[in-house]
Amino acid sequence: MAEDSPIIIVNLKTYSEGYGWDGFKLCKVIEEVAKETNSNLAVAVSAIDLVDYSDNLDIPVFAQHVDGINFGSHTGSILPEAVKYSGAVGTLVNHAECQMTWAEIEKAINRCKELELLTVLCTADLESTKKGAQLNPNMLAVEPPELIGGEVSVSSARPEIVSDSVKIVEKINPQISVLCGAGVKNQKDISKAISLGSEGILLASGVVKSQKPRKVLLDLVQGL
Ligand code: G3P
Repeated sequence: MAEDSPIIIVNLKTYSEGYGWDGFKLCKVIEEVAKETNSNLAVAVSAIDLVDYSDNLDIPVFAQHVDGINFGSHTGSILPEAVKYSGAVGTLVNHAECQMTWAEIEKAINRCKELELLTVLCTADLESTKKGAQLNPNMLAVEPPELIGGEVSVSSARPEIVSDSVKIVEKINPQISVLCGAGVKNQKDISKAISLGSEGILLASGVVKSQKPRKVLLDLVQGL
């Protein structure tokens, strides 16, 4: 798989199509397209599915959330060691639908660093992009919440937030890959995001809610 090419991370969220056997079948379609087109595709899945999916997929699997905790009495939290044990390569942090305080974000990123789990820090705007980049995640995905789940992509509606995030992160830590997401639905949205300096895409509904995910994915990867 082309590791150095831009990445598309498909976030299965908690959609009815995105967990258990149906979610696994969708991830197998994503894996097929990744292999056929030599594209860098990955998935972010429910904590419940991490072990099963990681054991049976040849594409990178991310958790959708992790808590910055250590062993102990944290009932219901997502332990970083358990995410590592599951075979996941990393995790989203602070997704707009699973927001954390800055202290929690810092702890989560640092715990993931200790365990060599990749972190994709999600930010909503330039201010949080600037603050988040200083915590040195592996990747930073800027996603204006108001565009998430919609039909207009961030690269069309807010091109400046993508290009400005790239510039801000470059100045703070050029090692951080800047992704973007929200409303991305087709190859045009992706190629526009890449032309704005984005090194990848975080997307969900365009693939997970599609009746023809293979067709959508074959179109999306054309944008890479
Ligand atoms: O995690 C990516 C997600 O927030 C974007 O959602 O449905 O706009 O692709 P969507």
